[in-house]
Amino acid sequence: MHKPSTNVAILEHELSELRLLLERKTGVLLDTETETLVAVAGEFLESQRLASAEELLARLRASDAECESLAGRLLDGKTGFFRCPAAHESLVKMALPDLLQRRKSDHPRAVRIWSAGCSSGEEPYSIAISVCEAMNGNGGCNVHVVASDIRQRALEAAQRGLYPERDLQRVPRQLVQTYFARVGEHFLVKPRLRNLVTFSAMNLAQPAYLGQFDCIFCMDVLPRFSAAQRMALTHRLHLYLQPGGFLFLGQGEKLPASDVPFHSHKNKDYVIYQKPLAIAAKSGR
Ligand SMILES: C[S@@+](CC[C@H](N)C(=O)[O-])C[C@H]1O[C@@H](n2cnc3c(N)ncnc32)[C@H](O)[C@@H]1O
Repeated sequence: MHKPSTNVAILEHELSELRLLLERKTGVLLDTETETLVAVAGEFLESQRLASAEELLARLRASDAECESLAGRLLDGKTGFFRCPAAHESLVKMALPDLLQRRKSDHPRAVRIWSAGCSSGEEPYSIAISVCEAMNGNGGCNVHVVASDIRQRALEAAQRGLYPERDLQRVPRQLVQTYFARVGEHFLVKPRLRNLVTFSAMNLAQPAYLGQFDCIFCMDVLPRFSAAQRMALTHRLHLYLQPGGFLFLGQGEKLPASDVPFHSHKNKDYVIYQKPLAIAAKSGR
């Protein structure tokens, strides 16, 4: 029997069902330690005024949204501004020049980028800054970043765009001055940056269409999925990329072996993946 800080006990078999239910309904692998799972389930019971673990399970069996909300409390949201410098360097030096060169110059549409699993916003804001800085000498900053996450609280923080000074240590001072306004001990994202990013709640384990993108950042998310979910998400990411579009994974992450056609390009020890411009027609009639 497990006892969170509340007075409600959670039996071993209830805990196993809880883990299974969350993984099955959300598609997210929860390698959470038992102690954490018990504590978070206890908090959830209390916040929802539920009297027993059985009531909690009944609630979760009936509601995918509640499962996502509870699973979200168990997910790691580790992030940071310019967390993977090699990805930003590859975006600016390899992907953007390639995309812009293929762009029609008469009516260039915005570069569309998706930050899939954006946590509290540091990743999509960093992407928007990188693109703006790269494009400024190249016809202004015509970029739209769509940022999504399963955790509602992380999205609320992202939308607020208010970060303590220590979170901006990796951001060069001149960029802090350009894109953030000091508010006491914190820094607030300025409207010129905020307006380039749209946030949306989304579970990546389930199909949902946000349109087509020139680049997708899906960093430090795939390792949390089962092999089957990883494969399914890779197929969807491929589908959501424009021909010639680029996929960015976390440092050291590899695409699962699958039949989805991607070219890989190396920038030192970082690899970016590009959807072929034209998929070769299958031979045979
Ligand atoms: C370790 S953080 C990485 C954040 C950011 N991509 C980065 O690399 O800095 C992983 C993020 O993915 C989100 N995530 C995990 N599983 C998800 C799912 N099934 N759907 C949507 N977001 C998910 C988590 O909520 C978390 O914010």
